[in-house]
This record gives sequence, C-alpha cells and structure tokens, in this order.
Amino acid sequence: MEGLIVNGFSRLSKEDRINWLVKNFTNNSLKTKEILSQYWLDNKELQKLHDEFSENTISNFFLPWGIAPNFLIDGEMYALPMVTEESSVVAAAANAAKFWLNKGGFSTQVLGTTKLGHIHFFYKGNKEKFTNWFQNFLKIKLEDATAEITQNMRSRGGGITSIILQDNTAKLEGYYFIEVSFDTRDSMGANFINSCLEEMTKILKEEMNQSESFQSNEKESLQITMSILSNYVPDCRVRAEVCCEVDELDVKVMSPYEFAVKFKQAIDIATVETFRATTHNKGIMNGIDAVVIATGNDFRAVESCAHTYASRSGKYRGLTNCIIEDNIFRFWLEIPLALGVVGGLTKLHPLVRASLEILKKPTSEKLMKIVAVSGLAQNFAAIRSLITTGIQKGHMKMHLLNILNQLGATNSEKELLSNLFKDQIVSHHRVVKEFNKLRRNS
Ligand code: MEV
Repeated sequence: MEGLIVNGFSRLSKEDRINWLVKNFTNNSLKTKEILSQYWLDNKELQKLHDEFSENTISNFFLPWGIAPNFLIDGEMYALPMVTEESSVVAAAANAAKFWLNKGGFSTQVLGTTKLGHIHFFYKGNKEKFTNWFQNFLKIKLEDATAEITQNMRSRGGGITSIILQDNTAKLEGYYFIEVSFDTRDSMGANFINSCLEEMTKILKEEMNQSESFQSNEKESLQITMSILSNYVPDCRVRAEVCCEVDELDVKVMSPYEFAVKFKQAIDIATVETFRATTHNKGIMNGIDAVVIATGNDFRAVESCAHTYASRSGKYRGLTNCIIEDNIFRFWLEIPLALGVVGGLTKLHPLVRASLEILKKPTSEKLMKIVAVSGLAQNFAAIRSLITTGIQKGHMKMHLLNILNQLGATNSEKELLSNLFKDQIVSHHRVVKEFNKLRRNS
C-alpha cells in the first residue's frame, strides 16, 4: 500500500503527478510517461484552459472532430460538426444527408422547451393542511425568493413557469416533491435551475419553522432530502422527419417498395423488441452524441434522458417511427434534448465556439433541431445498411485502415491492400499476413 495513497495530489505539478502515477501504478514505465506528456499542447494558454476544465489533469484526450456536410434542414444547408471515435459514424451521417438532399431534406419542429427541477422531501403531517399551505402561501414565497436569481433570465423571456406540489406518498411513505418548471432560453440551465432550487429549499425550511399553522411534530416531520434538476425533460422535445414518395427510395440493391417495407419492419422490430431497441437507439445516439459533444453540451444528460424517454410506456422501445401511407414513406424521431448555446463550455472551448459558428450560431431550439436531425440521419443510414448490404462492409473499410495505420503502412501499401480486401473479410490476422507478404516482396 505504501506509495499508493497520496495526499494533496491536486497541489502537485503536472510532472510530479505523472511521476507519482507511473512510479506507483506502472512500474515506472517510461513509455506511459512519454505518452501522457506527448499530448500536452505547445500553446501554454490553451493547455491551461484545458487543465482548468477538470481536476487533477495530467494529459489531454483527443477525439476526432469531423464534418458531415450536405444537410438540408428546414430549407437551409448545414455542415454538422461531429466528435466521435467510432469509424463510419460521420460517413454514415454524410451519406444519409446526401440521400435526403434531393428529396426535400429534413424538416423539424420543437415541441416544447420546459426544463424541470425538484425539491424531494418527506412530510408525515396532515396532507390537506400542507397542500393548502403550499397553494395559498408557500408557492408565492418560493417565487419571490428567487426573483433576484431569475431576473436576468426573465429579462431574456425565460424564468420559472410553474411550481407544483406532487404527492408521491403512494410510492413511498411520506414522500412528496415540489416540481419547478423552467424556461432557460438559450442556456442548458443546470446551474440556474439548481441555484433556484437551493434558494427555494431554504425558504421551505424557514417558512415551515416560522409558520403558526403547523404543530411542532408536523414541523419536525418535514425532512428535505435533496434539491436537483431532473435530466428527464419529456416536454423539452423536438421532432425531426424525412418523407418522400416510395418510388424515390433509390437504393439500387432492391426495389423502392421492397426497401420501404423492409425499412418499416426494422423500425417496428425496434418498437416491440428491447434487444433490438437498445442497439437501434445506440445508433441514434451515435449521431446525437457526436453533435452534442462538438457543441460542448452534456452528453450524459442527453443520453440518460433519451433512454428514460424510450421507456416511457413501461417498456424500452426504439425512438424512431415509420409509416408508409398513400405511397408516402415517412420516417421520424421524437426526442427530448436539453441543450444550451450559451454558458458552460460554449464560450470557453475554442472548438465548441468553432462548432457553433459553423452551425450559424444557432439558438438552443435550432440546435435541438440540428441534433435531432443528426440522430435521425444516423438511424436512417444504419437501417439502410442493415437491411441491404449489412454494416460490416462499411465498417471493415475503416477497420482495415486502422490496422494498416497501426502497422505503419505507406499510402501505396494502403492502396494495394485496400484493393486486395475489397471483396474479402477483413481480420487483423489476415491483414498482418498480407502486409508482411507485401513488405517481403518489395
Ligand atoms: C453501431 O455503432 C450502431 C448500429 O449497430 C446501430 C443499429 O444497429 O441500428 C449500426
């Protein structure tokens, strides 16, 4: 154990943190030390900025930042910045964008922008008395108490839109929450919401203590457990859609009608079968997360919300829908997305600023639309591959390139081997064998 426990790690210099780490956790590996420092940025100011995003930083972790061009969204052209480590995701998005470009592109609609936060508490006194007190007295006090915090947001047209008391005693004895609804305009609003909730929590405690309406045992029975925003925002929701005549579904390997029917089958399977729904939604999130990360938003929040929404019927289902009616193929995604274009990383991270600029400095509603389109496009591309050629063909091309890069192949070697593997299954073993053969022969 000696050496493995450290005090004041955060106060060590970056070099000392690495020295301590490699000494105690890698047998003093010089290679690991070199790798960790290899990713430091020469630009000291930029490095400092990255160091300060998080704590105990010792290196940077780069992810590819790519562009999926040719997205026609509500009549406007976009190039989508996408941050992802998974090969084929950006290419798939770009392919789907191109496919829909001459069919009217993507259309979108924001269905709501309400964010939520809760004060969770237990109360064992008289329910009716508490409810009346909340309705006729506390609610106004809570709103007044946050007037200062909400001032700026109100001047931008946002703020608190409702405060309700939810009786949850049927789920858990004595459990209630106060649900506060917010319009956080162009910010994701997490800090704003949590600040409002914590201020309200103070008022709830104070007002209860001072109240003459409650007996001391009722006052003592009030126990506030926590106050926090909810990442589940079903009413902060957006819809993205594509549609065309069935005959326009030009996929070459099968007839448009056969494609439309098979496509709908795939969507229907994800609606009824959880095993498939999970993978189906993973594909949607490939597109969503990549733009969410590129624009500096909280992908963990977006992910957890999407999966809760997918389970809203009591069963986990696919997030996209498809109908074929009167020879029209319609395919859409409805998803809650809590996104911001101000605050958080948006001003701080230069690449996030660049992403937002490329997206024409969108409002948060516009960004919701773009992100939903990215998810829909990704799902379209995945299903199209799955029901036609299978996904391995596209994946293997990238896989081959990754292996060849690892082997240090030259451009001409890459070209020769890519041709060789055009119609063959790519396996690491076979690529290494062919690569070695090529080197031996040259
Ligand atoms: C791979 O990252 C995503 C897919 O598996 C999604 C899907 O199956 O729909 C291709």
